[in-house]
Amino acid sequence: MNKRILALLLAALMVVALAACGGGDDTPATDAPDTPATDAPDAPDAGPVANADKPLVWFNRQPSNATTGELDMEALQFNDETYYVGFDAVQGAELQGQMVMDFLTNKADASIDRNGDGIIGYVLAIGDVGHNDSIARTRGARLALGTGKGGTSIGDIDPTPIGTNTDGTSTIVQDGKVTIAGKEYIVRELASQEMKNAAGATWDAPTAGNTIQTWAGSFGDQIDLVVSNNDGMGMSIFNNWSQENNVPTFGYDANSDAVAAIADGFGGTISQHADVQAYLTLRLIRNALDGGDMDLGIGTPDDAGNVLEASDYKYVESERSYYALNLAITADNYEQFLDATAPYGPVSNQLDESTHPAKKVWLDIYNASDNFLNESYKPLLENYDGLLNLDVEYVAGDGQSESSISDRFVNLDQYDGFCVNICKTDNAATYIAKLQ
Ligand code: BGC
Ligand code: CA
Repeated sequence: MNKRILALLLAALMVVALAACGGGDDTPATDAPDTPATDAPDAPDAGPVANADKPLVWFNRQPSNATTGELDMEALQFNDETYYVGFDAVQGAELQGQMVMDFLTNKADASIDRNGDGIIGYVLAIGDVGHNDSIARTRGARLALGTGKGGTSIGDIDPTPIGTNTDGTSTIVQDGKVTIAGKEYIVRELASQEMKNAAGATWDAPTAGNTIQTWAGSFGDQIDLVVSNNDGMGMSIFNNWSQENNVPTFGYDANSDAVAAIADGFGGTISQHADVQAYLTLRLIRNALDGGDMDLGIGTPDDAGNVLEASDYKYVESERSYYALNLAITADNYEQFLDATAPYGPVSNQLDESTHPAKKVWLDIYNASDNFLNESYKPLLENYDGLLNLDVEYVAGDGQSESSISDRFVNLDQYDGFCVNICKTDNAATYIAKLQ
């Protein structure tokens, strides 16, 4: 080998070596276009998207520790297109408490005290002691009624049911007071209980309907008022007992049947703006798949004119969470809220399929018998999916075992995005593991 050939070979080797270190600090920028497209790590035609990189929206049950309420940030930040959609639990819980208090101070008269003992006795139906939304509502009711021990801010109030760690009187609740038609009354929580059925499903409406019979048996006309963590349980109590006994009963969710019952004496409910939440649940998937302007159709109008009002929701970046805001529904305004399944006007415009092509989404409802999710949320999702050109596969769980859902979190390659309603708030990792 002569020197010339050796020099040429060395030069060629250097070119190869430089190309192999492409991206090194001193590689001139002008070299970049020479790199063959097939070698580029982020070539657009690099094959199917890995499941771990597909958009993932948690909704209704926020990944969090069931005991401490601490958010599961690993699940919430799983990838760049992972979010939670729910509602502002504290604002809603405070609102529910105020709604009940408003009713007592502005609408009630002496007849509310059924046995005339000067005490407004109430019972409280609790949804799920390990669900942060339920915890907030129990606290909100006790805070407003002055029956919560532990402090003056909602987070300080003990959310446990009476009887779980007491000695008979209560270490958990105390008497509050309220002025009705110029007279001061004591407010007393007579009983409270998590409404869980024998199989373990929580927020269980039939259990609430049975429990009110038991409570009526032990407390009789000491019960002047019923507060429930949701409408499903509240309506079961109303239908089984409160309506015929003329006892004001308050729920949460603004399901159509509860709103309609306001005309028949149901006290009131809170809208958690399921119409905004269901939209956001699917819209975030749509935006992620359309190329990533995540605010489109949310804070920024899209090409079809869809946009939310700032007062409809808030986004908390540090929690990767969108929270819809709540609204009290009472005898004063219920007529506008009779259909809980109608898509929300400002975001009900059809997207053009040529610019927002059809995509496939996997979505579950954790409990096939949950009133709110099946009577309000799911019909809303079904109204929005077509508007957003999403072909959604709906899966329903049994409300008590995570596997009733996670066992059907399969064939993930066939979907472009996932919306997950976990059964227990600590179980997000089960789904994450399947995406990896
Ligand atoms: C609703 C309840 C429902 C629960 C299910 C809550 O936000 O208010 O009615 O049972 O979600 O997770
Ligand atoms: Ca009384």
